[in-house]
Amino acid sequence: MTQPCWPARPPGIAFGADYNPEQWPLDVQKADLDLMAEAGVNFVTLGVFAWASLQPSPERFEWEWLDRVMDGMAERAIAVDLATPSAAPPAWLSRAHPEMLPIDADGRRLWYGSRQAICPSSPAWRQAATAMARRLAERYKDHPALVMWHVHNEYGCHVPACYCDVSAAAFRTWLRGRYGELEALNEAWGTRFWGQRYSDWEEVIPPRATPSFSNPTQKLDWARFCSDELLDCFRAERDVLVAVAPGVPVTTNFMSLFRPLDYQAWAAEVDVVSNDHYVLGHLEDPEAHLAFSADLVRSLAGGRPWWLMEHSPSAVNWQPVNRAKAPGQMTCHSLTHVARGADAVGFFQWRASLAGSEKYHSAMVPHAGTDSKVWREVVALGSKLRDLTEVAGSQVEAEVALLHSWESWWAAEGPAIPSNLIDVAGHLRSWHAELRKRAVSADVVSPRADLGRYRLLIAPNLYLISPGEVARLEDFVASGGTLVVSYWSGIADAFDHVLPGGYPGALRDLLGVRTEEFFPLGPGEALELSNGWTGTRWSELMRAEGADVVAHFASGPLAGVAAITRRELGKGRAYYLATHLEGPSLASMVSLVVGLAGVAPVAQVPPGVDATRRRAKGKSWLFLVNNRSEPAKVEAYGEDLLCGERRDGSFWLGAYSCAVIREQGG
Ligand code: GLA
Repeated sequence: MTQPCWPARPPGIAFGADYNPEQWPLDVQKADLDLMAEAGVNFVTLGVFAWASLQPSPERFEWEWLDRVMDGMAERAIAVDLATPSAAPPAWLSRAHPEMLPIDADGRRLWYGSRQAICPSSPAWRQAATAMARRLAERYKDHPALVMWHVHNEYGCHVPACYCDVSAAAFRTWLRGRYGELEALNEAWGTRFWGQRYSDWEEVIPPRATPSFSNPTQKLDWARFCSDELLDCFRAERDVLVAVAPGVPVTTNFMSLFRPLDYQAWAAEVDVVSNDHYVLGHLEDPEAHLAFSADLVRSLAGGRPWWLMEHSPSAVNWQPVNRAKAPGQMTCHSLTHVARGADAVGFFQWRASLAGSEKYHSAMVPHAGTDSKVWREVVALGSKLRDLTEVAGSQVEAEVALLHSWESWWAAEGPAIPSNLIDVAGHLRSWHAELRKRAVSADVVSPRADLGRYRLLIAPNLYLISPGEVARLEDFVASGGTLVVSYWSGIADAFDHVLPGGYPGALRDLLGVRTEEFFPLGPGEALELSNGWTGTRWSELMRAEGADVVAHFASGPLAGVAAITRRELGKGRAYYLATHLEGPSLASMVSLVVGLAGVAPVAQVPPGVDATRRRAKGKSWLFLVNNRSEPAKVEAYGEDLLCGERRDGSFWLGAYSCAVIREQGG
């Protein structure tokens, strides 16, 4: 990752949207440029789905419309994040190469007529996509509006895996690279079980629909392969762009905690980490989800500023019920991303479409036009972001990290595991939400990251962990850190083989515990713990071997058995939770370890107010975001950059409003 070597980037916090001018007549496009100036838009992502408009048939290219739009952007000093259109192959290409249409695990072919109908391993699609990327790069490499390449769109969003014969062959090639010999694969996949032994590489296939559970290691390797295969597609386009237009940074838009793609591996391949996030209306606390996403993406970017490529100005159109945002909510959402490290605020999309599948998705210019809540708020947001110019480049410093690895996640959720209530993402988010309620900033990092900078590490369901990673955790604890490990951690090796001798095999010594059997709980079941807390979802027949018992189960078949332990090691301590904590019990646990680890909150805030601090060279900015529908009393010292007032103690922050305080001494 070469970031932030990027001379041409827009100054301050970038502000803009996906812009699809090919959907609009010229007079509307002309009006768009004026409106963009009015809103203070300084970047657009162009061309994401424009392949069929740029190349309507194999031999015909129509560049003039894009030339004109690029020139218009340059005249208005609007930076262009120019997309390769490979997520929307034209119908003529799919018709000429029906084998590039993906096949799902049940053998069903998915047709063109929406988008991303692509087999990632298809030579025809790959060749056409890289050829198109080359043409774009050759045409626009010296264009003054160009500041970044945006490869594809949301890799894997609709088709993370294809199960066709071409993909099967690519999978075998990947497996040969990993295992060399077929016998090594047989060993790794444990194929003596259920008589699955392979005697010829050609017998090895993707985990297509089977009568019963597929082989778990086959599934794990398939997940690894699918993430790698799409990453290869990204690399192929990126390398063409870089070869033709060296020095122009390259990104592709991530989707936060998206299970199919190992973004920890992907992040190393992009120049700028960018992300799309959409608030999920059905959640109890959608802003907690948003905050988690932003912290994860910041961590993927190695702490450096990242780009919020897309979020929605108001409603989306793809959830069961799609409600518009309340006045002020859009700004709260945008500024929460900025508070947590984003240096760009992008939307899908600039102008609401009148036709097509996304016509009921909100946009910066809504169907209602400029005499609207959304437009007024867009213009106000542009102005607020200009007021925050000095914040660009600053960073968030967290003393807590949640440990997450994609391959552990893939393996942890099966198939055929003790409980289908294991929910790695939900578990991570629940810890993060409790930290956020306390205004404690947290990163979300791989166990391979630099852990030395943290005081508190939390590992919910870190099922698969390597010996090297265990050694890092031991060092962390020995040098004074506080570690919390939950059930269903340290169970298996990289092949998803159980580490024998008692669970959690890899972490038994570090935690000083040994578990013989799992006793998962059903939905709604709960166990009392001796310290007054409650355990749900999970319990274990566990013995402390070197650890102290903090609490034991006080009800159910395991009454009297250790439920929470703590082992002192060197200057630090390691907790093990043999049950699932939620609600007040999780809150108490978080308070306990945050206190013990000596982690300071960013600020004291009432419920519903998000507090984060960005810092740079002795300066600091406190972001306060009130996500509630009523005013909240907060406290700060310094100048509020959004309204110009000095804050010298407590004040009322309005419903759905924000303050960004340049702190005293900062
Ligand atoms: C994603 C896509 C966009 C659009 C939005 C709608 O982020 O990248 O093209 O479909 O979803 O929310």
